[in-house]
Amino acid sequence: MAGLYRSRVAGIGSYLPEKVLTNFDLEKMVETNDQWIVERTGIERRHVANSDQATSDLCVIAAQKALQDAQLKIEDVDMIIVGTVTGDHQMPSTACFVQTKLGAKNIMSFDINAACSGFLYGVTIADQFIRSGMYKNILVIGAEVLTRYMNYKDRETCILFGDGAGAWILSRAQEGDKNIIESSHSHADGSLADLLILPGGGSKYPQSQEVIDKGMNFMSMKGREIFKNAVRTMALCCREALEYNHISPDQVDWIVPHQANKRIIEAVADQFKFPMERVIVYVNETGNTSAASIPLAFDWAVKNGKIKRGQTILLTAFGAGLTSGSILLRY
Ligand code: UT7
Repeated sequence: MAGLYRSRVAGIGSYLPEKVLTNFDLEKMVETNDQWIVERTGIERRHVANSDQATSDLCVIAAQKALQDAQLKIEDVDMIIVGTVTGDHQMPSTACFVQTKLGAKNIMSFDINAACSGFLYGVTIADQFIRSGMYKNILVIGAEVLTRYMNYKDRETCILFGDGAGAWILSRAQEGDKNIIESSHSHADGSLADLLILPGGGSKYPQSQEVIDKGMNFMSMKGREIFKNAVRTMALCCREALEYNHISPDQVDWIVPHQANKRIIEAVADQFKFPMERVIVYVNETGNTSAASIPLAFDWAVKNGKIKRGQTILLTAFGAGLTSGSILLRY
């Protein structure tokens, strides 16, 4: 991971659509109940984008907050990366729409399809561009409008997912700055790709009446298998980050895990006896927002006085692919 320079988190921002879908609302739509959802997932509500809001619109609001936090103008940004699996269109990338809406011109802009690990993949790529000396300020966004791909007849998935966006500005750190991204590790196990998939609408099953009739335009998931893999993989990712940096769990101030299910988060922490008091849990408010989940939770934790500048933070993600990863940073 060597390089000429190091990167730091210069600014953060997030956005949750105003409209809220509670467990009680879902009780009226599908055979479920608040108690089951809270006990099995920890989710109480999720936010839903308005019909006139596309993913890029959520990105722009989060990005503007991050720019303000970093005290930078859009002209200062050298590259835009958007982690999303629910982009505005099949093509071109959502990052290009974000670029224009923000008023940026001619800078490299692209999407990352790594599902719930999309934001960590994005930060990892941005970190490398800064380390190499190529760019100084990079906007990384994780954003999803997942509710457009939910089958509200499938109680196992529709209760889980929500919409939102989170953004970071990664900037070149000054020499000697201690608040830097220390490490990033990313992985994928394609042999388990079918466990969580949105099968229709791509080149394998192009959009057709048959695809719609079979519900292949919705997300489908083998919940229990995903649960087991999520716990095992995120725990492994955390260990990998700690070992690489030669630090013990008590030297980490906060873990910000992917917010999929509170029981998954608790089980990951339990694997290496990390106290839940130092784990950020925001899934109750957001549901699973895939690529947006980590920057949303991080932003919430900073705004609520939990995460503070100078602290050591471990991020870990897991998602469809099956993708996974970790980032260890000093904020
Ligand atoms: O970013 C990664 C994305 N995905 C995830 O993180 C999801 C990972 N998986 C999970 O979070 C959990 O597997 C679920 C929340 C999806 C399901 O929880 P579970 O504890 O694994 O439940 P289960 O699938 O073992 O189902 C237990 C029972 C079943 O009934 P029977 O067969 O025992 O009679 C289900 O039919 O709960 C039933 N059930 C529900 N009941 C009420 C499943 N969904 C619901 C529901 N409301 N929404």
